[in-house]
Amino acid sequence: MKNRSLVAIEEYSKEKILYMLEMAKEFEKRPNRKLLDSKIVATLFFEPSTRTRLSFETAANRLGAKVIGFTDPKVTSSSKGETLKDTILMVSNYADVIVMRHYLEGAARYASEIAPVPIVNAGDGANQHPSQTMLDLYSIYKTQGTLENLNIYMVGDLKYGRTVHSLLMAMRHFNPTFHFIAPDELKMPDEYKLFCQKHNIKYFEHREFNENVIADADILYMTRVQRERFTDLMEYERVKNVYILHNDMLCKTKDNLRILHPLPRVNEISYDVDDNPKAYFIQQAQNGLYAREAIICDVLGITLDDVRNDK
Ligand code: CP
Repeated sequence: MKNRSLVAIEEYSKEKILYMLEMAKEFEKRPNRKLLDSKIVATLFFEPSTRTRLSFETAANRLGAKVIGFTDPKVTSSSKGETLKDTILMVSNYADVIVMRHYLEGAARYASEIAPVPIVNAGDGANQHPSQTMLDLYSIYKTQGTLENLNIYMVGDLKYGRTVHSLLMAMRHFNPTFHFIAPDELKMPDEYKLFCQKHNIKYFEHREFNENVIADADILYMTRVQRERFTDLMEYERVKNVYILHNDMLCKTKDNLRILHPLPRVNEISYDVDDNPKAYFIQQAQNGLYAREAIICDVLGITLDDVRNDK
């Protein structure tokens, strides 16, 4: 069988993204389907997670699969020195698909090259988080009615935030205009700005974060400063609260604006924003279930037609 891993979002064409969003829409209509009876999904989390792991496991359970895995590598034989290669080969003996989060950039790619079963990248260091991107795209599509020609403002830790890196790459098909709002220490890395240039994507950089800067936004994508990626914790302390979104900053924003955040939030969205109808981050996380049902099915070779024909 062709290895159908999902390692990086740039592997998805525009057509594939739209196809996956259609499949997510089917699962939103009816999340419980016995499409994966007798399948085993392994979730290997070498880093902490709430949403990604639990929504993948919920997706597997709602599709009739069984779930094995770990949430703490200290209780596995990797703590005795077992290599990632051997761990992946062992789990491939037991499971039909492996969902893996790892602290090393490139770990998912490596796993996909050695595993006989599909690998789904649930986040590799500061690199990519493609399943998050699919739920972000689904959330944008649901709230804006389109993915085309949107003003997308990314705020906070654009250096280490893997979700913004993946989203930027996926949006290349849809003519976005990006606004990157970050302090100098956490600016969008040059490689992603070069990516924008190569794909003729307009982008603007800002240091200020206020009601005037965000007045034209369709999507305001807030991010947490990624404490776990800093080698210098003094630098983290300097930047950790640099941008906080308060409800009164939304007074000039467009009616269609929606506020997204991959979560967890720490301080960057004040709780007074939660009751604003433009706040969408809780529903966004719920969309993760449908997007991840689609991803698990796709890597196991189950098609949109299979899902539509499932009664
Ligand atoms: N968005 C996200 O990846 O959340 P978790 O770290 O809780 O999985």
